[in-house]
Amino acid sequence: MKFFVDTANLAQIKEATELGILDGCTTNPTLMAKEGIVGEKNVWDHYKKICEIVDGDVSAEVISTDYKGIIEEGKKLAKLHKNIVVKVPMIREGVKAIKYFSDNGIKTNCTLVFSPGQAILAAKAGATYLSPFVGRLDDINIDGIGLIHQIRHIYDNYQFKTQILAASVRNALHIVRCAEAGADVVTCPLNSIVSLFAHPLTDKGLEQFLVDHAKANKK
Ligand code: E4P
Repeated sequence: MKFFVDTANLAQIKEATELGILDGCTTNPTLMAKEGIVGEKNVWDHYKKICEIVDGDVSAEVISTDYKGIIEEGKKLAKLHKNIVVKVPMIREGVKAIKYFSDNGIKTNCTLVFSPGQAILAAKAGATYLSPFVGRLDDINIDGIGLIHQIRHIYDNYQFKTQILAASVRNALHIVRCAEAGADVVTCPLNSIVSLFAHPLTDKGLEQFLVDHAKANKK
């Protein structure tokens, strides 16, 4: 399973790469706005900065919602850096654009996916990644992890190559359950990744080892 960090914050992206387990990064317009990055040039420059830090795929989301606009914007984004994956919303025009990008060697991430039917459409169009939003489904009392299981089953039935990139993943339990469900990638905030380290018995055990070592080695 690959780990992507879900942020546009450069310090957090650097910290995530320093963990030594990072495979990529996802962003969205909300995350860019949260960092105060506004205006096309600034946003594009920011994507380039992220790509210089991350040795892996970096999702850059289009703002356009019509076919022609998505194609034009996506081509420009893809030219920014070899790591860029064009993130396209799960809408009719988006799926058509994903097919175009797939036919023209541009990597895509189909975002805002909430149903198995949408997952089938994206795979048929040749999306590189599919982003089902686990947390946002849980927010409305629909089983987000259940959707990952369903999509895994469908994709395996037909050997679809689209990678399941579980998104809107908000805690350590989500990460583990996505892994159990067979997600190819999990993207989540840095604090969710870091929370995987935590176990009280690890802390207690280490403390005891160090105390015992100090006692045995005291002069
Ligand atoms: C990433 O690709 C998604 O845009 C992101 O994971 C959404 O997360 P949220 O539902 O916590 O905003």
